[in-house]
Amino acid sequence: MPSHPILLSAPLLVTRRVQAVVAAIALLSVGAAGAQSAGAPVKVGLMLPATGTYASLGTMIENGFKLYVAEQGGKLAGREIQYFRVDDESEPAKATENVNKLVKRDQVDVLVGSVHSGVALGMAKVARDTGTLMIVPNAGADALTGAMCAKNIFRTSFTNWQPAYAMGKVVAERSHKTAMTITWNYAAGLESAKGFVDGFEKGGGKVTQNLTLPFPNVEFQALLTQIAAQKPDAVYAFFAGGGAVKFVKDYAAAGLNKTIPLYGPGFLTDGTLEAQGDAAQGMLTTLHYADNLNTPRDNAFRLNFAKTYKVNADVYAVQGYDAAQLLAVGLKAAGGDIKNMEKVIAGMSSAQIDSPRGKFSLSAGHNPIQDIYLRQVKGKNNELKGMAIKALADPGKGCKM
Ligand code: PHB
Repeated sequence: MPSHPILLSAPLLVTRRVQAVVAAIALLSVGAAGAQSAGAPVKVGLMLPATGTYASLGTMIENGFKLYVAEQGGKLAGREIQYFRVDDESEPAKATENVNKLVKRDQVDVLVGSVHSGVALGMAKVARDTGTLMIVPNAGADALTGAMCAKNIFRTSFTNWQPAYAMGKVVAERSHKTAMTITWNYAAGLESAKGFVDGFEKGGGKVTQNLTLPFPNVEFQALLTQIAAQKPDAVYAFFAGGGAVKFVKDYAAAGLNKTIPLYGPGFLTDGTLEAQGDAAQGMLTTLHYADNLNTPRDNAFRLNFAKTYKVNADVYAVQGYDAAQLLAVGLKAAGGDIKNMEKVIAGMSSAQIDSPRGKFSLSAGHNPIQDIYLRQVKGKNNELKGMAIKALADPGKGCKM
């Protein structure tokens, strides 16, 4: 029996509308997927300290990263860069929660962070579990490119062992026989002290005691009293940021710099000289950067950095800048498609980075193979004094990919 035409056409109309909406949604999502690989911004999650003793280091890294992107006209491999930020407070206990804000909530394509080794280790666990691309622009935890290494984890800075081992070698060559170490009791400090012991004892020296205090405490007095009592030939200290400023000043105020020379990795005097003033003058440190390398590449970088941010670049700025360079290499290798992880990773793994520090490539564990310079504090600069160790590669112990 024929139905009333109006009764028939109403559901038909609804069905057609549903079909049209479904088709439109399908078209939209195809468009979005296409845009993902072609023109959508690459989402960069900056997980750095904005507060606490390492806050200024976080700022320098972020500024360095953004400077490289700006120099490329705001795009890497033709892709706009969109930033997401989390202040990690250099607080390892909050690392998982913080990194998940970037990975789960913001769905970033790449994680850049952090400064503190404990925080970076927490980030790396999430990066491994989720397969998120991660570039470490500072934290030196040896395991990041050692036992915990992964295809998707890269570093543009150093291992804690690298500058420390080099300093141990230099201090032994300077004919010191005994030394004490002093540092914060967490991965970076402990690994740095151990690297120094390796280099110093290999050169014939003996470390008599390793002193520590909790991070980020700066009540150094009791430990300085122990150093004064024991009178080693030399002291090796790992501190950075605000803690480094206070330690170097306290060491000088106690008069110890007159009798027991203080050495350290360059973090002890990088980005800190303005505040350390006279207390730091003449100090020798080892690092993968110095303020007067005087190469055309470094001079151009330093000029642009100073013009843009009204402060001089330091090692942290360089590491952030190179994190952006490394990402650019990966993106280019994948034709701008950040979702093509295989190509991104292959490109990054074989990258030759033309860094302001000098050219470097990455080890099997994705850590820079780089020159470690001997520097000396003169005024507000860490001046190049010589080569401590050329093309030093971290052994990357336990790395299996
Ligand atoms: C670290 O926690 O790995 C760390 C922090 C600050 C530095 C160097 C290393 O300057």
